[in-house]
Amino acid sequence: MKVFVAGATGAIGRQLVPRLVDAGHEVHGMTRHASKQQLLRDMGAEPVVADALDADQVAQAVARAHPEVIVHELTAIGPMDLRHFDRAFATTNRLRTEGTDHLLSAGQAVGVERFVAQSFFAAYERTGGSVKSEEDSFGPDPAREMRETVAAIRHVEEAVLAATWTEGIVLRYGGFYGPGTSLGPGGEQTEAVRRRRFPLMGKGSGVWSFIHIADAAEATVAAVEHGRRGVYNIVDDEPAPIAEWLPVLARTLGAKQPMHLPRFVGRLLTGEVGDVMMTELRGASNAKAKRELGWTPSHSSWRDGFAGLAS
Ligand SMILES: NC(=O)c1ccc[n+]([C@@H]2O[C@H](COP(=O)([O-])OP(=O)(O)OC[C@H]3O[C@@H](n4cnc5c(N)ncnc54)[C@H](OP(=O)(O)O)[C@@H]3O)[C@@H](O)[C@H]2O)c1
Repeated sequence: MKVFVAGATGAIGRQLVPRLVDAGHEVHGMTRHASKQQLLRDMGAEPVVADALDADQVAQAVARAHPEVIVHELTAIGPMDLRHFDRAFATTNRLRTEGTDHLLSAGQAVGVERFVAQSFFAAYERTGGSVKSEEDSFGPDPAREMRETVAAIRHVEEAVLAATWTEGIVLRYGGFYGPGTSLGPGGEQTEAVRRRRFPLMGKGSGVWSFIHIADAAEATVAAVEHGRRGVYNIVDDEPAPIAEWLPVLARTLGAKQPMHLPRFVGRLLTGEVGDVMMTELRGASNAKAKRELGWTPSHSSWRDGFAGLAS
């Protein structure tokens, strides 16, 4: 198939493009930078230079490539600041709202058969069971500093699922780890754990779902090839509370064990977003993706996957 990848040069894009090419697809990879065209060629893709926030550029780029599938992996996440979460995600939020709309209308103009878009597992309601399926709702009360980010995630999901002229597919990825991610060699989160700047707050009861970046790419190939309209959690088999995974990660990285902070102190330092993520977050189940995409993560648990982060 002809596949147009927006975000082809990013952490997920660099894993996804070569896999699509190996599977026999003709890939058109988008970047803003003429200087990254060679990188795309080296991955086997046809480079397309366009700014996702410019509707005309996107329309022209998609019209020229005339793809059968569009994959939306656009993000631009700034340095993490839990107290100003929406600020760190401001450009990503534009890519998930305006960027999504530009790609959808460009895709509709050429009649794409599938539209696959990136979402994130962390917006599920924070009551009830600790592991959520795609049927579960988003929480009605996101932390104040992440309201715009959750609203942008809702936008991308609703717009893609409402696109009845195509097979609209939403992939709620777990927290990425592995090469090129913030939890990879030299990544922001890896370094925070290494330097003991990633504390355990309260009971560390926030449940996180992870996915190795290569497994995320494999699931995306499956969605491109035979996904059906709907939402899929793309996470590993073992959602786990921070109290369980953070000490293992610290040990793997050869770092000191994380500091323990009482919940109220942690909240003072990291705000409501930090508190929610460290103590209330819910994980996600991958049962539907396994069943319907025929996909299984090769790193079935972060326990094995994190071992690859040891230096
Ligand atoms: N996914 C999440 O919700 C999430 C949450 C927390 C942390 N993280 C971490 O954050 C990392 C992602 O970092 P990142 O956001 O800097 O992404 P990235 O991996 O660098 O990828 C961003 C992609 O979007 C493209 N892009 C951005 N703005 C664009 C625009 N206006 N027009 C066209 N293309 C555009 C970039 O292309 P060019 O630069 O080539 O133009 C690039 O291909 C992940 O590895 C993960 O570890 C992710």
